[in-house]
Amino acid sequence: MSIEQNYGVKFVAALALREKQIQQNYRPIIAVHKWFARRPGTLFRALLLSEFGDKSVEETYYRTHSFEGVTIADPFMGGGTPLLEANRIGCNVIGTDINPMAAWVVREEIEAIDLRAYTRKAESLLDQLSQKIGHLYKTRCPITGRKDADVKYFLWVKTGNCQKCQREFDLFPGYVLAENARHPSYVLVCSACGDLNEVDDPRHPGTCRCGTPLTTEGPVHRNKCACPHCGHINSSPFSRRRPTVTSAVRDGVLQSRPQRQAGAPVQETGSG
Ligand SMILES: C[S@@+](CC[C@H](N)C(=O)[O-])C[C@H]1O[C@@H](n2cnc3c(N)ncnc32)[C@H](O)[C@@H]1O
Ligand SMILES: [Zn+2]
Ligand SMILES: [Zn+2]
Repeated sequence: MSIEQNYGVKFVAALALREKQIQQNYRPIIAVHKWFARRPGTLFRALLLSEFGDKSVEETYYRTHSFEGVTIADPFMGGGTPLLEANRIGCNVIGTDINPMAAWVVREEIEAIDLRAYTRKAESLLDQLSQKIGHLYKTRCPITGRKDADVKYFLWVKTGNCQKCQREFDLFPGYVLAENARHPSYVLVCSACGDLNEVDDPRHPGTCRCGTPLTTEGPVHRNKCACPHCGHINSSPFSRRRPTVTSAVRDGVLQSRPQRQAGAPVQETGSG
């Protein structure tokens, strides 16, 4: 069997490891629905190419293929990873499973989609949602001042009220929202306007568009927070006059869509 000659354990193990490590970002079509203990697609593709290809898997893996005369049957297809990979390299596929959910999942993964019907449905859903809740996702654009810019993300931050001057302040323990591990740059929140700034070197973060110097250190240290308005050192618990959630919809903390690529997930920072 050519699989005995063509398969390369080291090569495939490295591919499978990479696929597993990026699972959180890599969402292939098999993610249409969760299935138990999915094996990496790279593993099945490598097995198929080793069996039906005429060279080592290292040589065939990155080429295009069309095994038109080949039919792959998986009578216990589960989430369908082997069938999907077989389909992607041009094989015919047949699958069965005792579990009807598996049949649904694999059908959704493999069946051709009617793009027009899909687009029509998606647009109609978007229209309905915009009418019902769209107003909750509008904000003032910090660049143009436009009041109806689309919100790109919400940045949630706890707030406290100064025990001396009673004014509200943000309880950021630090302003680094993302490091450069999964993202190309560091992302720092501006302490004054709440804007997000991409920074190469956090030791020299520079200045925000609003003119405020950026910093990584937040005002909260060891349950103490200096009031940015009067300088009074407040101690935890920081009194709050309104629930945390409402502070998230304050103007400066909202970001509107068109300015930058960095997408920040909903974050909750601060203590107290
Ligand atoms: C571990 S999954 C296999 C998934 C897939 N073949 C793979 O290698 O990734 C095993 C599947 O076998 C199905 N199964 C178990 N007994 C079965 C039977 N008697 N007839 C058909 N399918 C069965 C289960 O529902 C389950 O989805
Ligand atoms: Zn104060
Ligand atoms: Zn700023």
